[in-house]
Amino acid sequence: MKAVVYDRYGPPEVLHLEDVPKPAPRDDEVLVKVRATTVNRLDCHTREANMTSGPVVSTISRLISGVRAPRRRILGSELAGEVEATGAAVRDFKAGDRVFGLTGLRFGGYAEYACVRESARITHMPATVTFAEAAAVPDGAMNALWSLGQVKLRRGMTVLVYGASGSIGTAGVQLARYFGAEVTAVTSTKNLELVKSLGADEVIDYTKEDFTKNGKTYDVVFDAVGKHSFERSKESIKPGGYYLATDGFRNLVLAPWTALFGDKKVSFTIPPRYPKRDLELLRDLIEKGEYRAVIDRRYPMERVVEAHRYVDTQQKVGNVVLLISSEGRA
Ligand SMILES: NC(=O)c1ccc[n+]([C@@H]2O[C@H](COP(=O)([O-])OP(=O)(O)OC[C@H]3O[C@@H](n4cnc5c(N)ncnc54)[C@H](OP(=O)(O)O)[C@@H]3O)[C@@H](O)[C@H]2O)c1
Repeated sequence: MKAVVYDRYGPPEVLHLEDVPKPAPRDDEVLVKVRATTVNRLDCHTREANMTSGPVVSTISRLISGVRAPRRRILGSELAGEVEATGAAVRDFKAGDRVFGLTGLRFGGYAEYACVRESARITHMPATVTFAEAAAVPDGAMNALWSLGQVKLRRGMTVLVYGASGSIGTAGVQLARYFGAEVTAVTSTKNLELVKSLGADEVIDYTKEDFTKNGKTYDVVFDAVGKHSFERSKESIKPGGYYLATDGFRNLVLAPWTALFGDKKVSFTIPPRYPKRDLELLRDLIEKGEYRAVIDRRYPMERVVEAHRYVDTQQKVGNVVLLISSEGRA
């Protein structure tokens, strides 16, 4: 089968197409004919062994992915496709089922076929979307669900989403609204209309206004892009409120510290936990028209280097899809 592989850490150019053996499912696995996958920040960070995040993070990244070279040659942590075959013990899926899910650090989505355990974060696709639209759902939305789940969101609570145009941010705006919160989305001028269309009650253009200086306070500040900080946003958080982090070593120290001291908490747990029931919830929300993955660009598998270069700019809006076959559009 055709796959995008890499054998050393580095820039997007380390990725190339190769013919590799087609995997065979074990007893508890399904063999998925992959139609679409994504290029997300996890793929890009893993590809370059997190070197841009400094030596400490890079060392941890290599301990996870392979010290000298990547242990797993095929990236792609989310996918959508069709079940081609099932192992003897598989009960919930059969050949022909349309499925989507998250392979996480096992990756494997950048290939024509991938084996996924039945018990992993994989489920039947929403009936209403294409493979490309389904592939773009799991990573950002499950991260947003995990982050927002740290707070018991109640109707009428106020949530500010910083970095509202990213993969996690576009999901965070929609899901905070779904849980009944009043949402303020912070983004740059070009993405204001998009975040309004996702249901934000208020929008702030960070190129024109600093939300930390407008005198308003929120129950939750959700830094969905890892570009803000607890210290800078502290005065905008209500007493008893939360700063939800998605990135930043410093937050690993601040989380336990603020749990003991002060009346404003930082929440940041690594690794985040993504239960399968969250994927099922997302499928139901999509079918009811209450959630959609935002797709910025779609690239055919052959243009994977270009796709990674684009995601490396940190300017993608929502998600970038990699089409493994022309049926990815269907
Ligand atoms: N998604 C993942 O795979 C994943 C996994 C684990 C952890 N994380 C972490 O979670 C965070 C979010 O990831 P993501 O994939 O959702 O991000 P993303 O999609 O790459 O975010 C891109 C968006 O961020 C906005 N942005 C860029 N610089 C900004 C700034 N200085 N202030 C405010 N917004 C800015 C840009 O919009 P504007 O033009 O409006 O600025 C752009 O639309 C990252 O820190 C990442 O390391 C991500």
